Amino acid sequence: MNELDQKADKTLQDNTAVMLVTGGAKRIGAAIIKAAHDKGYRVIIHCHRSQQRAERLAKALNSIRADSASVVVADLALVNNQAELNDFVQHVIEPFGQLDVLVHNASRFYPTPIGSIDNPQWDELMLTNAKAPLLLSQALLPYLQVQQGCIVSLLDIHAYDKPFSGYTVYNMAKAAQRTMVQSLALELAPDVRVNGVAPGVNILPDANSDQALDQAQQDNIVRSIPMQRIGTPEDIAQSVLFLIEALYITGHIINIDGGRSLTLAGD
Ligand SMILES: NC(=O)c1ccc[n+]([C@@H]2O[C@H](COP(=O)([O-])OP(=O)(O)OC[C@H]3O[C@@H](n4cnc5c(N)ncnc54)[C@H](OP(=O)(O)O)[C@@H]3O)[C@@H](O)[C@H]2O)c1
Repeated sequence: MNELDQKADKTLQDNTAVMLVTGGAKRIGAAIIKAAHDKGYRVIIHCHRSQQRAERLAKALNSIRADSASVVVADLALVNNQAELNDFVQHVIEPFGQLDVLVHNASRFYPTPIGSIDNPQWDELMLTNAKAPLLLSQALLPYLQVQQGCIVSLLDIHAYDKPFSGYTVYNMAKAAQRTMVQSLALELAPDVRVNGVAPGVNILPDANSDQALDQAQQDNIVRSIPMQRIGTPEDIAQSVLFLIEALYITGHIINIDGGRSLTLAGD
């Protein structure tokens, strides 16, 4: 038995579930981390550029419960290199010796109007929204199988039949991730369940980002939502936890959009 397997064997006796959330330092990812931690999970916060925020969050959670949160820093482009992917798996398993839940939350989101699409955009949007979720699932599967664990993917109500106008590459990438959920649910049952959560508008782009929306755009969005409000990251976190704990649900995708998918016209 190698060192990692020994550690896994030992910590299996501690049956507090362990959750990894990609892109977990802020926004929806951080809300999922906090909600899971509140429920008693041990959490692994993956981040790339937001290391300071991830460390701050881990520190706060560890002060609530010692040794309950850790951070792993990586550009998910590492899935393009098998040795780097293997290292990433070691870093994920090292702190707690097990993995019960994998949440694919990391993503890039920006418009790619036809006529302007280039290879770096295609690579980045496909990598973060489709390729990395699949290859991380594959690499971490042996650990999820041991725990009879599950995978939850963050999708998008725009990802298939109501595409976002001007976002073809993002729409395609999220549609691929949606198909991954259904395909892996079939292939990994009965050991590992695979489900998806599709937000509508659950947190606006950061006000200082190039995707920021002005007041008129925000008012338009609210008018298009039957529940008459922008969703919250906590609305998403609650549905992720529901799917993790719903032991007879696999291959299912829940829209958490205040009804917006019923009214959506693709813009
Ligand atoms: N916001 C919404 O209302 C909404 C609507 C529909 C769907 N969704 C989906 O819900 C999920 C969360 O949404 P969000 O708005 O909270 O996400 P976000 O802030 O746009 O992105 C989440 C994280 O992804 C990480 N990330 C991006 N590229 C990466 C890379 N190459 N390597 C590693 N990490 C990378 C970033 O981590 P660092 O900051 O550490 O670099 C970022 O903080 C996404 O999958 C999104 O598509 C959200």
